[in-house]
This record gives sequence, C-alpha cells and structure tokens, in this order.
Amino acid sequence: MQITLIGMPGCGKSTVGRQLARRLGIAFIDSDQVIERRIGCSIRFFFDREGEDAFRDIEEAVLDELTAGTTPAVLSTGGGAVLRSANRLRLRDRGRVIYLHAAPEDIYRRLRHDTTRPLLQVQDPLQRLRSLYVQRDPLYRETAHYVIETGRPSVATLVNMVTMQLELAGAPVVFAARSAAP
Ligand code: S3P
Repeated sequence: MQITLIGMPGCGKSTVGRQLARRLGIAFIDSDQVIERRIGCSIRFFFDREGEDAFRDIEEAVLDELTAGTTPAVLSTGGGAVLRSANRLRLRDRGRVIYLHAAPEDIYRRLRHDTTRPLLQVQDPLQRLRSLYVQRDPLYRETAHYVIETGRPSVATLVNMVTMQLELAGAPVVFAARSAAP
C-alpha cells in the first residue's frame, strides 16, 4: 500500500516522508525528484523555460506512474499535485493520502529565503502563499483521507502522529512494519 503526503510547499512532506518510510521500513519516493531526473534540469529552470502547464503535464504523467505500482512506499508530492482533478482521483483511489496542514504564515517563516520554488519568486511571497492556500486547502482536504496539523511539533512527533493515524485506520503497512521489527 502506498502512503501519499500532500500539502503546501514547505509543509514538511519530504522531511516527514523520509522519516516515515524509514520507520515503516518501506521505500521513499519524492515525485519532484523523479520529475527533475526526467526533465534533466531543476523545476525552477523548467518553469521559466517551458511554463507551468508543461510542468503540470509531466507532473500528472509521473504521479500516474508512481501511484500505479503495488510496492509499499511513502510518496511525497509537489504542492500543486492536487490542482488537476485526475491527480486528485488517482492519489485518493490508489493509496492512503495524508494532508500535512500548515498555515501560510508558518510556511512563510520556513521558506522566506528559498530560491528553488518558482511560484514563490515574487515581490510578496506571503501574499502568494495566502492566495495559494485559499485555492488549494479545499483541494487537499478533498483528496486526503487524514489531515495532520503540522504547527510546532518536531518531525519525530509528526511521524508518530501519522503512524498512529494509519494504525487507527488499520493500515496493513503499519502492521507489517511492527511484525518486522526486532
Ligand atoms: C509547486 C511545488 C513544488 C514543485 C513545483 C510546484 C507548487 O514542490 O512541485 O515548484 O505548485 O506548489 P514542493 O511542494 O515540494 O515545494
């Protein structure tokens, strides 16, 4: 079974995803890394050269491929993965989806010096984060099976919260990890 993390840029999908995969003893896949390998350059460069629509087409194809497999894995997605309804349906149908919720102000504090995210290279990144949040929060909620509040907890606490949530839901991957533990 696949566990997919969704949420705004900078909400911790990759950091939490990597630790969660380690805890469960399953693979970790970052869809943005797979996209960058495929396009052969950074996402920011690709956005500048080819535009957002071209990026979304590749993102949709990569997410389709990555969610088609049956090998257990934790999949961390890009913040805009929920923009297309085809992605939302596939992510939700093919795994357990966890929305790592973060307020735009918290994200801004973490990302204010970031230069890698094309959508945030604007005069007023906080304003951009607020408008992305208004547009996307309902889409994340529509796609997710569970919502985890990121707020202040440490990565380890967030990983505990996610595993507890999956355990409560009877997710087989958690039980497999438990029985494999020494
Ligand atoms: C995007 C978020 C990025 C990356 C691309 C577009 C977005 O991923 O996929 O720059 O639309 O929010 P992160 O969420 O990992 O920053």
